[in-house]
Amino acid sequence: MTKTDELRKIKDEVLNLKESPLYSYRIENKYFPVIGEGSHDAKIMFVGEAPGRNEAKTGRPFCGTAGKVLDELLEHVGIKRSDVYITNIVKDRPQENRDPLPEEIKIYGPFLDRQIEILKPKVICALGRYSMGYIMQKFGLSDKIEPISKMHGKSFDAQASYGPIKIVCLYHPCVAVYNPNQKDLLRKDFEVLKNI
Ligand code: URA
Repeated sequence: MTKTDELRKIKDEVLNLKESPLYSYRIENKYFPVIGEGSHDAKIMFVGEAPGRNEAKTGRPFCGTAGKVLDELLEHVGIKRSDVYITNIVKDRPQENRDPLPEEIKIYGPFLDRQIEILKPKVICALGRYSMGYIMQKFGLSDKIEPISKMHGKSFDAQASYGPIKIVCLYHPCVAVYNPNQKDLLRKDFEVLKNI
C-alpha cells in the first residue's frame, strides 16, 4: 500500500467512527472529519488539538483564524505549508470548541500514531498542551512534561520506531488570536525550527 492508500484508509475509518462521542455532532452539523493535509514526504509534522468550525466545514486543518497565524509563523521561518504535514490529535470538532476530553484523545490518538508511522516525520511539532502531553507521553518523555509556559520553544530528542526524531513544543497558534502580543513569542519559538 502507498502512503496515500494508507492515509485514505485512516480517513475511511474515521468517517465511520460511530463509537466516537463526536460522531453524531459531526453528522447533525454536516461537518467533515479533519484527517490532515500536506506533503506525504514531509520531514516536519505539526500536531494541533482538534478542528474548529471552519476546519470541520471544509475538512482541512488550520484553515480558520488559528490557521492564519500558523501560516504567518511558517512564513516567518521560511517553511512552505505545502512542504509540511499538518494534523490534529482529535479528528472531529468538539462541541463549541471545548477542550478535547481524555476519552476523545484515547479514541483518536491511535490514528495519529498511524499517521506518524506512515509519514515518518523527523520533527514533530506539538501545538498546544494537549498535543504536547500526548506526543511527549507517546515517546516516553512523560517525566519531562511541565506546564506549556515552561516547555514552549524547547525541543527534545526521542526515538521513533523508524529512527531518531525531534519533538518541538510550541504554544497553540490560537494564543495569538486572543492575545496579539503573544505573536512575537510564537515567532521566536518557531525560530527553533530554523536551527533544527
Ligand atoms: N485548532 C486546532 O488545534 N486545529 C485546527 O485544525 C484548527 C484549530
